[in-house]
Amino acid sequence: MAGRLGGKVAIVTGAGSRDDGIGNGRAISILFAREGASVLLVDRRRAAAEHTASLVAGENGEAAPFEADVTSETACRAMVQAALDRWGRLDVLVNNVGIGIAKRVTDLTLDEWELQVRVNVTSMVLASKHAIPAMLASAGGGVILNISSIASQRGRGLAPYAASKGAVEALTRAMAADHGRDGIRVNAIAPGPAYTPMVAAGGMTESVREARRKATALGLEGTAWDIAAAAVYLCSDEARWVTGVVLPVDGGVLVN
Ligand SMILES: NC(=O)c1ccc[n+]([C@@H]2O[C@H](COP(=O)([O-])OP(=O)(O)OC[C@H]3O[C@@H](n4cnc5c(N)ncnc54)[C@H](O)[C@@H]3O)[C@@H](O)[C@H]2O)c1
Repeated sequence: MAGRLGGKVAIVTGAGSRDDGIGNGRAISILFAREGASVLLVDRRRAAAEHTASLVAGENGEAAPFEADVTSETACRAMVQAALDRWGRLDVLVNNVGIGIAKRVTDLTLDEWELQVRVNVTSMVLASKHAIPAMLASAGGGVILNISSIASQRGRGLAPYAASKGAVEALTRAMAADHGRDGIRVNAIAPGPAYTPMVAAGGMTESVREARRKATALGLEGTAWDIAAAAVYLCSDEARWVTGVVLPVDGGVLVN
């Protein structure tokens, strides 16, 4: 199939997005399919993954929902096998699943901390552990894209989330070094304050939304489509010489 990801098989975790809106995982999945990839839509909520699948099918794209909790190693192994069983190869893994706990350490329970790390970091380790051998055996190489956040650098009020995303970025660089000679590229996107269902679910007021827009150098509100466009580039062969980077997609918040 033609397209910037034509012929590639991709797994996107957290492909469901909450509510009916377009979150990062759903936007990435839709753009990947538009660019010719076959996409395994992984989410712990089956109905959410099925909704993304229906959106892809409506554009005549190729995708299949897969119910899995990516904090389970058994589930990560099964999701990789499902991609191989269905399409015979694996080229791309997008580790998109993430939750945000907005607390200071003084207000945080140990259970909350462990949940934050398990969902945001352990899931990426487990999914990558099982995806890399499958990529090497079936495609002779591949690409991993981890979704971080600029909260790794601007973490006020978000200490557990910020720490987890700092770990995601360190993991990205170390994995890029470890697996580069095998033909595995590993990069991260650090989204800024895009307006997505994840953010809207927090009940954001219009004035806060406007303040977030003004915090960007461009004075523009971002959406999940902005994150997805960067994901297509980093996972395509156009980025064949790009590995170990953390790309902020934030309207210029970090330079403002
Ligand atoms: N929205 C933003 O503005 C923003 C900013 C910075 C970073 N991010 C990052 O983007 C990523 C997600 O974005 P999104 O818009 O797709 O979020 P989302 O909340 O809309 O969707 C996440 C999906 O992940 C699924 N999920 C959660 N835990 C799971 C698990 N253990 N196993 C399988 N599925 C699970 C949920 O069911 C949901 O469908 C996260 O890593 C987040 O930290 C978002």
